[in-house]
This record gives sequence, C-alpha cells and structure tokens, in this order.
Amino acid sequence: MTKPILKVENLGIRFGGLQAVDNFHLEIGKNELVGLIGPNGAGKTTVFNMLTGVYQPTEGTIELEGVKMNGKKPHQMVEAGISRTFQNIRLFKKMTVLDNVKAAFNHKMHYNLFESMFRCGSYWKEEAEVTVQAHELLQSVGLDEYADQLAENLPYGQQRKLEIARALGTGCKVLLLDEPAAGMNPTETAELMNTIFRLREEKGLSILLIEHDMSLVMGLCERLVAIDYGRIIAEGTPYEVANNPKVIAAYLGAEEEQNAESK
Ligand SMILES: Nc1ncnc2c1ncn2[C@@H]1O[C@H](COP(=O)(O)OP(=O)(O)OP(=O)(O)O)[C@@H](O)[C@H]1O
Ligand SMILES: [Mg+2]
Repeated sequence: MTKPILKVENLGIRFGGLQAVDNFHLEIGKNELVGLIGPNGAGKTTVFNMLTGVYQPTEGTIELEGVKMNGKKPHQMVEAGISRTFQNIRLFKKMTVLDNVKAAFNHKMHYNLFESMFRCGSYWKEEAEVTVQAHELLQSVGLDEYADQLAENLPYGQQRKLEIARALGTGCKVLLLDEPAAGMNPTETAELMNTIFRLREEKGLSILLIEHDMSLVMGLCERLVAIDYGRIIAEGTPYEVANNPKVIAAYLGAEEEQNAESK
C-alpha cells in the first residue's frame, strides 16, 4: 500500500468499567475499500464515533494524511475530509432530498451573513454552483428524480442512499458507512453495493464499511478487519478472515446467543 490516508494506532475507549474498543489499529490507502465486521456490540460503531470526533479515544492516535486528529470535534473531522453515514438514518426529514444534500456543502460556503441576508451576487453564484453539484450527487446515487420530495417520503432504501449522497456533499476523502444496507432486501442490497463500488472508483474515495453480513462484504472489500469484544480478532483478505477460526467462533457464538434468546 502507498502511504495510508487514514492511520489508526492503538485506539481504545473505556465507558466506565467497559473497555468498548481496545488496541484497535487500521491503515486505509487511497481508493481502498475495507470492511469492518463483527457481531452485535463488538465495537464497530464506537470505532466510527472515535474516527469522527463524536467520542474522544482514551488511548491511541488517529492520523489523516499524516496529521494527528485526536481532540478534533465532529465538524473539524468533516472539514478535514472524514464523513460518515449512520446506522440509524439521520436525515433532515422535513427538508427536500435536494436540500439534505445541499446542507452538507455548508462548511465549504464562502459567502458571509451579510451576503446571505441581502442575497448579494456572491450568494447566488455559490448557491447555483452548490445546487448543480448536489443534483450531480443525487444522480450518482440514482435519486435525482426525487430531488424536490421531502426526505421522509422516500422509501427506506432510498433514504439510505440519500445519506450517502449527503455524506459525499462534504467533499470527503474518507467515507465511513455504518451498515448502509441494513433493512434492505437482497436486490436493494446488491444494487447499493454496486453503487458504493462505483462511487469509490469515480471519486477516488477511501471507504471503511461496517457490515454484519459477511457474505455481503466478501465480494466487495479488498480487506477485512474483524472485531469482537472491542478487539481485532482477524484481518486480511476476505477469504482469510472468513476462514479464521476466531471469526467463525464469534459469529457462531452470536448465532447461538440469538437462538437461545428466541427460545
Ligand atoms: N456511549 C456509550 N456509553 C456506554 N457504553 C457504550 C456507549 N457506546 C457504546 N457502548 C457500548 O460499547 C459496546 C460496543 O457498542 P457498538 O455500538 O460500538 O457495537 P457495534 O459493533 O456497532 O454493534 P451493532 O452491530 O449492534 O451495531 C457495547 O457494549 C455498547 O453497549
Ligand atoms: Mg453499530
């Protein structure tokens, strides 16, 4: 791998008595697509929350293009080039599909309060540019025909795609996707995975993708990292990880727990 764009070393966080993530490490190169897998409660979302400044790690370092990011707030992480989607969809439900994407451009806008209040030339120029770019992003996820609808009126699978378009509106270099296919049927899932793959190519993105379903990430990612109880239990090619006895045990254990609960 060339110089990693995102480099994480010895990352850890403790919530009271619970070490939710421990000694986590990761390097993602430009244009790489890496899967982060693990059973429920393994610590996957917590890793994302640290990478996006929502939680401050208790140990370890996060570097983006060689710059240390520890202590940065979520909006600073976005400005630096890390953007995400959420496990539970978080859209501006009462805003249009287009405005949801335009909202992501906010931190890059240059007009000042005076110019926006009095709608000066620079305001309109930037607004027009952002509108064009937002439409392009909607096109790239197949949602442009819904641009004027309220976000809450989109079917669930489309809302997930809108979240991705919004995340891309920030102009990120690193995209973190937290179970983007959750709640989708197999056809929608396959289509979404194709979209993610294409976007990565088109935009030269580095992507870290959280997914429960191993079969889904197998075909998509070059590399997988598996965690359980906050620690890395395997990493490597999808084939290596899927055949790792610790991973098999972690997933079988999770299945057995679910079976026991449903009895
Ligand atoms: N803010 C918090 N305070 C206390 N405990 C937390 C907090 N956030 C996460 N945890 C705990 O950390 C552990 C890891 O949770 P996390 O949400 O990261 O798991 P996950 O791998 O994303 O699981 P899932 O697949 O269910 O989404 C869990 O035990 C969770 O209860
Ligand atoms: Mg999670």
